[in-house]
Amino acid sequence: TTAPLIDSFGRKVTYLRLSVTDRCDLRCTYCMAENMTFLPRREVLSLEELAQLSDVFIRHGVRKLRLTGGEPLVRRDVMDLFKDLSKYLQSGMLDELTLTTNGTLLAKYAETLAACGVKRVNVSLDTLDPARYREVTRIGDIRMVLAGIDAAISAGLQVKLNAVASRGAFEDEVDALIAFAHARGADLTLIEEMPLGDTGLDRSQSVLSLRDLQADLAKRWTLTPQRKNSGGPARYMRVEQTGGQIGFISPMSCNFCALCNRVRVSCMGQLYTCMGDEGSVDLRAPLRHSETAVEGTIRAALMAKPERHSFDLDRMAEPAVTRHMSALGG
Ligand code: GTP
Ligand code: 5AD
Ligand code: SF4
Repeated sequence: TTAPLIDSFGRKVTYLRLSVTDRCDLRCTYCMAENMTFLPRREVLSLEELAQLSDVFIRHGVRKLRLTGGEPLVRRDVMDLFKDLSKYLQSGMLDELTLTTNGTLLAKYAETLAACGVKRVNVSLDTLDPARYREVTRIGDIRMVLAGIDAAISAGLQVKLNAVASRGAFEDEVDALIAFAHARGADLTLIEEMPLGDTGLDRSQSVLSLRDLQADLAKRWTLTPQRKNSGGPARYMRVEQTGGQIGFISPMSCNFCALCNRVRVSCMGQLYTCMGDEGSVDLRAPLRHSETAVEGTIRAALMAKPERHSFDLDRMAEPAVTRHMSALGG
């Protein structure tokens, strides 16, 4: 085997988040602007190139591979990529192959995903109220996601619901989201809004500190810290009343960068070593040259990976990074 990928702070890269498209069939207000320009299709890597890049990372120590978007399931023939990547599960080179999805197309794909060895899916759902869902996503129909969640559960996939916390209606609804998720055997992960990209809205008005929300939840629910670690950034709590779990992803109020094990690759083949960083390096040109060139480029980029992001709860009005969340899928 070859040497692992390590950054200058000694953090090992074991988790790759690979964006397969920048497109999405929704326009969530914390993620995108109302009018987005998407990449011309010729700029986007082929499924083969995405598989080749994954291969380099996996052969250098990545054990967890998550496909993201935009919305990964809007990419044509994306199931072919899942099928291709499932060979690493079979050979034991990968512990987990998974995706983060808005769920609108899950009803169509849940069975195939399960057949490809996917065990868990993370589905974004910020509200159970159809009208509010429409507001948050600008164009979504909640029935599609609910059908997607049901289909995923029927296909034997473990579901984790992702909710971006926000001030106001969300605080009134969070108990219902907990009950909804836990009644279905799903975990619920609460996420602090991060200041990526200009969405046309002032995030200082919407951002909710999970430190505060957790204190509020603790008045109504008995929360017991868990050891469980999914390999992602969430801290888990068990809710004694439901037997289910809540994950807290608190980049703003409780920085977790010291334990960072991840990098991201965009659908154009740009490597991003940190979400909070504007910079990226191109892997597409080296990929067309040789695999050794890709490896060298990754190692050099890791030497420049920042120690932590510089998002700040008190500076949410302006984006800290110009790229939208949708460009990398988180
Ligand atoms: P699990 O495998 O279930 O632990 O998933 P995950 O939390 O790694 O992935 P998911 O796509 O569900 O991401 C949930 C949220 O965590 C999204 O808002 C991501 O942007 C955020 N997130 C994931 N990794 C990082 C990170 O390294 N830094 C920051 N700031 N946020 C992250
Ligand atoms: N801050 C935090 N999370 C976000 N997401 C999208 N935009 C943001 C943001 N600005 C979430 C989505 C999805 C996950 C990948 O990232 O809701 O669940
Ligand atoms: Fe699409 Fe996900 Fe962004 Fe919503 S958060 S617009 S579902 S990419």
